[in-house]
Amino acid sequence: MLRLACRVLLLATTATIFTISPATAGGNGVTQTPSIFAPAATPAYATRELTWIVFVITGAIFLVVAGLTVYAIMRFRRRQGDDGREPPQVYGSLQIELAWTVVPILIVVVLFLVTTRYIFAIEGRPPVPEALEVTIVGHQWWWEIRYPKLGIVTANELHVPVSDPAHPTPTFITLQSADVIHSFWIPQLAGKMDVVPNKTNRIWIDPQKAGGYVGQCAEFCGLQHAGMLLIVAVQSKEDFAKWAAQQRAPARNDAEVQAGRELFSSLSCINCHAVRGTAANGLFGPDLTHLMSRSTIGAGVIQNTPENIRSWIDDPASLKPGALMPAMKLSREDLDKVTAYLLALR
Ligand code: CUA
Repeated sequence: MLRLACRVLLLATTATIFTISPATAGGNGVTQTPSIFAPAATPAYATRELTWIVFVITGAIFLVVAGLTVYAIMRFRRRQGDDGREPPQVYGSLQIELAWTVVPILIVVVLFLVTTRYIFAIEGRPPVPEALEVTIVGHQWWWEIRYPKLGIVTANELHVPVSDPAHPTPTFITLQSADVIHSFWIPQLAGKMDVVPNKTNRIWIDPQKAGGYVGQCAEFCGLQHAGMLLIVAVQSKEDFAKWAAQQRAPARNDAEVQAGRELFSSLSCINCHAVRGTAANGLFGPDLTHLMSRSTIGAGVIQNTPENIRSWIDDPASLKPGALMPAMKLSREDLDKVTAYLLALR
C-alpha cells in the first residue's frame, strides 16, 4: 500500500515540478506535459506499456492485501461479550510458509523477466543509415550538443527531425560527461540514461510528433541539478534542414557591433566560450556562435531576452545561483558593448 501511495505521489509531484510554462520555453511550442504517460517515441511507448504491466500486477497485490486486511479488521473486531482470550495461534505451518515465499518469488521473477525483455528490445535496436548522430555532453549545469557529421555545436536545445513510423529516421545519441554523473531524461521520448564521466552511453529516440519536449537532468549533480533542463525541438524534415543550415553558417560579423566583438575577444570570455571563426574557442561553457537562435539561457532557467543576456553577463548567479560562470564585473559601458555583440549572434 505504501509503495503504491509513494509511486502516485511521486508521479504527481514530478508532473508539477517539471511542467515548464510555454513562456519559459520560448517559441518552440513546448506545451506538452513531461509525463511518461504521454509518449511520443518508440522507447517511451515501451516504457509506458511496461509501467502499466507493473501497475496492474502491483495494483492487484494491493487490492488482495488491503482487501484481506479490511476483511480481518471487520470480521475479527472486538465484540460485546468476548471473553478476552487470545484466539488459537498457528506455528510452523509448512503450507503457509511455502505459499508466502514461493508466490512473491514468482511475482518478482515475472516482473524481472518482463522488464529485461523491454530493456533488451529498446537497447538492441541497431542504428540505421538514415539515423541522425548526436553527441551530448553533460556539464554542471547545461547540455553541450554536437552534430559531428553536420558540423554543428549548440547547447540545451536539441533539434531533431520527426520520424515517420513507416520510414523511421531515428536519432542516436552518444552521451558523455565533462564532470560528474548526470542523467539524460526526456520523459515523453525515452527512459533515463546515466551520463557518466569516462564512459560513453548510447540512447535513441524516434519522435513521431513534431513539437517541443522538455527534458531534465535526472541524477543529482550539484547545486543547479534542477536547473539543468533540455528542450527537444522535433521538426519536419524541411524545418530541420533549415535550422541545420542556419546553425552551420559562420558567426555574423556585423560592423555595428565591432567594438563589442573586440572587447569580447580581449576578455576572459573566450577561454570558456566558442564563437566559430573568431579567437574564442573555449569549451568549458556553451558555444555562442548562434546564441540568439536559442529560446532560453542558463539551460532552460530563463528566457533568452536582451535584458536577461545583459544581467547574465553582469552576474550569472543573480539568475542562476551557483552557475559556474563568474560575474564579469564590467563597467556599464563595456557591459552594453558585449551585450550588443552577443545579441548580434543570431
Ligand atoms: Cu546534471 Cu543533475
